[in-house]
Amino acid sequence: MTITTTRAADGASAYTFDNAARDGEQLDILARILDEPSIDMLVRVGIPQGGRCLDVGPGAGTITTWLAEQVGPTGHVVALDLDPRHITGGNNITIQQGDVRTVDLPPGQFDLIHTRQVLLHLAERDAVVDRLVAALKPGGVLVVSEWDATDRNMLLHAPSPQAATAFTTFQDALLDILASNGADVGWSRRAPLLLRAAGLVDVTTVAHNQLWAGGEAGNLLHVSNSQQLQDALLARGMALSQLELLREAMQDPDTLAYCYWLFTTTGRRPR
Ligand SMILES: C[S@@+](CC[C@H](N)C(=O)[O-])C[C@H]1O[C@@H](n2cnc3c(N)ncnc32)[C@H](O)[C@@H]1O
Repeated sequence: MTITTTRAADGASAYTFDNAARDGEQLDILARILDEPSIDMLVRVGIPQGGRCLDVGPGAGTITTWLAEQVGPTGHVVALDLDPRHITGGNNITIQQGDVRTVDLPPGQFDLIHTRQVLLHLAERDAVVDRLVAALKPGGVLVVSEWDATDRNMLLHAPSPQAATAFTTFQDALLDILASNGADVGWSRRAPLLLRAAGLVDVTTVAHNQLWAGGEAGNLLHVSNSQQLQDALLARGMALSQLELLREAMQDPDTLAYCYWLFTTTGRRPR
């Protein structure tokens, strides 16, 4: 394992969450919700033994580890994150602390680049797609997975009308906080246009969602986010009692809610 460090970009849009908060709980929950659909897509595009991969914003690092197993000892995975504190290394893994908007990405070096739940947060996301495409080898594949939070018809059953209102109020406030930091929670639906415009071929998009009961990972995400961003949510007018009602509802087994849609777009650089 190699670890390299570069500074984050000055004056760039801010990333809303903190990987250190609650000991990385949010990142663990994301891995529990999303690794299965992500791995399905990665298997579909194919990970070459001996290949070179870049995982952008790996968070908990579970997909980095999986990619490292797939490419084997003759392959290599670079895990690039602003805050890579939770990523576990390995002989064929380089952990790079850096900002994907500015870090030096030598052209034409990766067989596969994967990124999940990163680009939606970055105001500079379109330019980042161009940088990632340039870093692919001819024939290399880009896999971009991001939430789409524009479909707000998520809650199927809540324990009470008050809990349903708390859920809606929380989602409104959370999306407002994200937008104020430069996030675009509808970008993932448009990503195929960007990948095509960047010159990729065989561009394919798949959307994934799952219904979760209270206490399951898809609903624990809202509990965790509401705890991590409590001060900002209160500053946006939510009452503490509403946040507590939301957390109770998201842990009540009677609750049924879809999570945000995960749009995964893949495309290949022409040979
Ligand atoms: C919401 S988490 C997603 C983690 C993981 N990809 C997943 O889906 O479970 C976003 C991750 O991207 C990283 N990140 C945010 N902005 C970044 C940037 N500009 N350059 C590199 N990493 C960034 C964060 O530190 C965090 O680990």
